[in-house]
Amino acid sequence: MVRPVIAGNWKMNKTVAEAVDFAKGLRDGLATEPVAEVIIAPPFTALWAVADVLKGSPVRVAAQNLHEAPKGAFTGEISAGMLVEAGCTHVLVGHSERRTLFGETDSRINLKLKTALAAGLTPIFCIGETLQEREENRMKTVIERQLKEGLNNFTADDISRLLIAYEPVWAIGTGKTATPGQAQEVHGLIRKWIAGQYSAERAAQTAILYGGSVTPKNVADLMGQPDINGALVGGASLEVDSFIQLVRYQTIQGA
Ligand code: PGA
Repeated sequence: MVRPVIAGNWKMNKTVAEAVDFAKGLRDGLATEPVAEVIIAPPFTALWAVADVLKGSPVRVAAQNLHEAPKGAFTGEISAGMLVEAGCTHVLVGHSERRTLFGETDSRINLKLKTALAAGLTPIFCIGETLQEREENRMKTVIERQLKEGLNNFTADDISRLLIAYEPVWAIGTGKTATPGQAQEVHGLIRKWIAGQYSAERAAQTAILYGGSVTPKNVADLMGQPDINGALVGGASLEVDSFIQLVRYQTIQGA
């Protein structure tokens, strides 16, 4: 049984003061241990302050990106060691905005995933097809390529230390969620791929999150699918009340 995961990706939003307010609200709002593992990904500038507020709470802190090198002349970049020091336990790798707006390739993502694991961070490895790829019936090919190249040279032990997020690019920030059936189809495919490359047991233990216009209204239906173990949420993670509702999706099941 995979523990469900609710992760919030704030993208380039919130000042340090706003982030700290949110973190306090979340910490106090989740007074009892939530059923789901809860992760928030603030911008770099707020990581340390947010992690400080959440110390001793069940909420984990993720960065939104990292550089693959340990240090050096990489102006504007942040290393895995810096993220660990700032209090991060997780890091998003290969988000579609990084792929499309910042030119991240599958091979670069592979290096970043390895670097994150070596530093003891849990990567949230993001994959997903564009609308055009879906319409041209290339979804399966694209997803399998992203898995194969992103996880190139990964052992079963490496796989056990990461989370996968399926985020169809056409559903991110658009208000167009994949239907639970569409999402389940791809999640099933991802799990089958892991089973084929590694083992059925490894596949069954991998948390596969769905992302793309998840809201408190649709989260329960998505989470009700057999191969959906969590949600990676952008827009609806920015307000603490909405995020707490997402974390408590079980209480709105059937709503
Ligand atoms: P969204 O973003 O929930 O605003 O669609 C999801 C993501 O980019 O992770």
